[in-house]
Amino acid sequence: MCGIIAGIKKENVVHDLINCLKKLEYRGYDSAGIACFENHRIERYRSVGKVSELEKIVGSKYSNIGIAHTRWATHGMVNESNAHPHLSTRDGFSVCVIHNGIIENYKELKVLLIKQGYRFESQTDSEVLAHLLHAERKKSSSIIHALQTVREKIVGAYALVAICDKDPNTILGTKKASSLVLGVDEENKQVFLSSDPNSLSGILNQIVFLEESDIVCLEGTEFSIYNNAFNKVDRKITMLDVNNDSVSRGKYQSFMQKEIHEQPNAVAMTLENFLDENSLTAGLFGDIAKRVFGQVEQIIIIACGTSYHAGLVAKYWIEELAKIPVSVEIASEFRYRKSVIKNKTLMIGISQSGETADTLAALNLARNLGLEWIFGICNVQESTLMRICNLSFITRAGPEIGVASTKAFTTQLASLFILALTLAKTKSHISVQDERNFLTQLRHLPNAIASILHEEQNIKNWVKYFQNKQNVLFLGRGIHYPIAMEGALKLKEISYIHAEAYAAGELKHGPLALIDENMPIIAIAPNDDLVHKLKNNLEEVKARGGKLFIIADHGFELQEDTCTKIISLGDHAGFLSPILHVIPLQLLAFHVADSKGHDVDKPRNLAKSVTVE
Ligand code: M6R
Repeated sequence: MCGIIAGIKKENVVHDLINCLKKLEYRGYDSAGIACFENHRIERYRSVGKVSELEKIVGSKYSNIGIAHTRWATHGMVNESNAHPHLSTRDGFSVCVIHNGIIENYKELKVLLIKQGYRFESQTDSEVLAHLLHAERKKSSSIIHALQTVREKIVGAYALVAICDKDPNTILGTKKASSLVLGVDEENKQVFLSSDPNSLSGILNQIVFLEESDIVCLEGTEFSIYNNAFNKVDRKITMLDVNNDSVSRGKYQSFMQKEIHEQPNAVAMTLENFLDENSLTAGLFGDIAKRVFGQVEQIIIIACGTSYHAGLVAKYWIEELAKIPVSVEIASEFRYRKSVIKNKTLMIGISQSGETADTLAALNLARNLGLEWIFGICNVQESTLMRICNLSFITRAGPEIGVASTKAFTTQLASLFILALTLAKTKSHISVQDERNFLTQLRHLPNAIASILHEEQNIKNWVKYFQNKQNVLFLGRGIHYPIAMEGALKLKEISYIHAEAYAAGELKHGPLALIDENMPIIAIAPNDDLVHKLKNNLEEVKARGGKLFIIADHGFELQEDTCTKIISLGDHAGFLSPILHVIPLQLLAFHVADSKGHDVDKPRNLAKSVTVE
């Protein structure tokens, strides 16, 4: 979603700001803007569309201080007036503000500001911040005191940066429930603020994660941080763990394709710490994990989108192996439900980004309801999610740039399987021999994924059957039903083909009515206990003229014919089968979308990280 970048350096910073905006493009946006100082005055440039459009407008402008933004529309249409930065000019000076998040009381503030004579040019909630900061700057001795007052008057979620031409060497920032980090480089005398640390890779490598309500003041190339009580504080500096290679497409035509192919390595990295040993230890999930895992009586998993599907798979694993009841809930539903949570419940939040607003709100709700044990599975160590959890597991997939989640999903699954095994072990439900066998299978997993990627050409051969379709049905049973759901989500979000997933046993209860020669059906058909049941369901589809595309294992009994295509993945992989069966579905979605000429990394209307409700 929206991205913020701001910086001061001794030389021209405009070029760096544009480059950082390009690194933020993957988050999804529809317009972009930049403000900088020219001859001690604030100049602002904005454009609808790609950052490259803004780059043309900015040309070779020179400034050593600037703030820049990519906007993903929430309040107000996609147009130049609604693009950030927002400017407030009167009484001989200007204030310019960029904002991520939502100001909930913006309507009340707007009424007050209009009464004071401020004129609004946009439909956004964010513009109130520019006028409010201007009004407060007029009354205050410094911009930092003005921002402190603004912070007290606004309600909602925000990461904001601001400049004022009364304070020409200064950039201010503050944040609440939205990400903002400080980047520091003492050697080259430069300081930056960004909503996404990855955007700073290649510029500097020291990062400070701001706490809620911190105000940060960049002055010249120095910085100071003030906490909620307005006391000057030191915050820990951490090293930025990203290299430029991980945020470039390399030899691939899109990030999504690269990320699909990175899965063997991403899964290997994620499992590394666990597979060095011959037995699992709860301590790897955090200091209190052993005690918590021993006592836990119920698990609730909270997530959105693909991460939710990972949770659904985990339910099968944890209930079967560790015998602990698990419920899996969509975060945006859970957060507004009056749920009953028993003591000794472990709440697990799964999120690639760790910044998904609904997931964070649901976990905070659980904490406010008195739940002590909050477990986060996340791909970003420095995320908000990781900071609100007291137990955690970091998936080490590396930055995932494509909006469609791929390597984040398979690494989440690998982590959740390790968690299921560790819970089972702590509850004495698996033998030492079973544990060893599972660890051996996990060690083999990266290679197993790599061999499925070799099926890419066979998958590509299916593209012609889907390219021009309006609807596709995905079928699965048992633990592969969530994999069918994930396959349908992948296809719809990047190819814009309507795709639905059904538990195959539900066919007779309604969806069978949809079957005809125009409805391709993708079936996930591993050689597990349910394969015969699934085969019967597929025979019912064939009998009604349906065209079947089956992702099977060796030994699947249906034969290929004009209406039945089969790709076989090899021997059945037991518990780990979902991690393998999702890969052909990712590849199919990618190649169908690509064949339709879509921008697979940035599908229409979607953002990588959904940081607002
Ligand atoms: O960062 P998160 O895992 O919390 O994101 C959750 C969803 O927004 C995300 O998985 C989304 O569904 C993906 N675009 C799916 O490919």
